[in-house]
Amino acid sequence: MWKTKDMPDLSGKVAIVTGANTGVGFETAKALYEAGASVTIAARDKQKIKQAIERIRATGSGTGSLEVGILDLASLTNVRHFADQFKTRYERLDLLINNAGVMIPPASKTEDGFELQFGVNFLGHFALTGFLLPLLEKAARARVVTLSSGAAIRAEGIDFDNLKLEKPYDAWREYAVSKLADVIFTNELNRRLQEKGSGVLSVAAHPGVTRTDLQRHIPNDELEVLLAQFDNVMEPWQGALPTLFAATDPTVKGGDFYGPDGEHEYVGYPALSKHSTAYMHDRRLATDLWEYAESVTGVNYFQ
Ligand SMILES: NC(=O)c1ccc[n+]([C@@H]2O[C@H](COP(=O)([O-])OP(=O)(O)OC[C@H]3O[C@@H](n4cnc5c(N)ncnc54)[C@H](OP(=O)(O)O)[C@@H]3O)[C@@H](O)[C@H]2O)c1
Repeated sequence: MWKTKDMPDLSGKVAIVTGANTGVGFETAKALYEAGASVTIAARDKQKIKQAIERIRATGSGTGSLEVGILDLASLTNVRHFADQFKTRYERLDLLINNAGVMIPPASKTEDGFELQFGVNFLGHFALTGFLLPLLEKAARARVVTLSSGAAIRAEGIDFDNLKLEKPYDAWREYAVSKLADVIFTNELNRRLQEKGSGVLSVAAHPGVTRTDLQRHIPNDELEVLLAQFDNVMEPWQGALPTLFAATDPTVKGGDFYGPDGEHEYVGYPALSKHSTAYMHDRRLATDLWEYAESVTGVNYFQ
């Protein structure tokens, strides 16, 4: 079973982890730092980021560095600002971990008018990755790891007429759609990178069932009932392992999708995910999503 002790030395590597002030992202950032990377904790609340950095420094024994990066994925203007600031400090980026996420919030929209889960979980990361692609291209074998979810297999395609809350809100459906979009994005980015002869790898991961703040919108009593359905749930350090494997293991290939190896991929240690649906591999849907995302974000990847 693969653990963080199996990670290679990351001294000199530059990493960004979005949503790293807590949960899976926090443990991902901590492990990358402990392996020697310079890690930017990219999140929306400066105070929470500083506290996370203090917690990592208090328990971690890293030789890399930890930096604050203010990033609100619910604002495309802010995403661009974050990327511009990052580019003034770094000339290359080795690891971009698209981890931040929101699950079943009350119906709400991003600053740009998109349903919040689609906007944050997918569209903000689409724009961020595009803005940072020139820096990824400057690194030797850079990787983009995008967090999806087992929920992605429940999505029945992407309804392009309902990405701005045009239809009655179904929180779980929109979460599943956003996480399907993350898998499609990973695959399509990988294809486009390969076509261009790029050395950058695009990979997906999911943390099975991990107890984190992600469940914050589920009332406590309902949450206990929900979690009781599972024999076991993971703690964030373990939930971070599929991401860390995808980000660092030398055997990883572009387009791979990793999750825990237990039954139904709820808990366990990193392995190739068996989660697969026709929508995840539908080339027409992937092209449509890509073109939609480029048009609404104004980010053109390969100009
Ligand atoms: N936990 C699970 O069982 C599970 C299962 C499948 C997939 N996942 C995926 O794993 C990833 C990590 O989730 P987690 O479980 O670690 O959840 P979490 O503890 O709630 O962490 C989510 C992170 O995303 C940040 N975030 C939310 N909205 C943001 C925004 N607009 N801009 C920037 N950052 C934002 C949060 O910041 P704040 O603290 O400021 O809100 C937090 O740092 C997510 O993509 C999630 O969908 C988790």
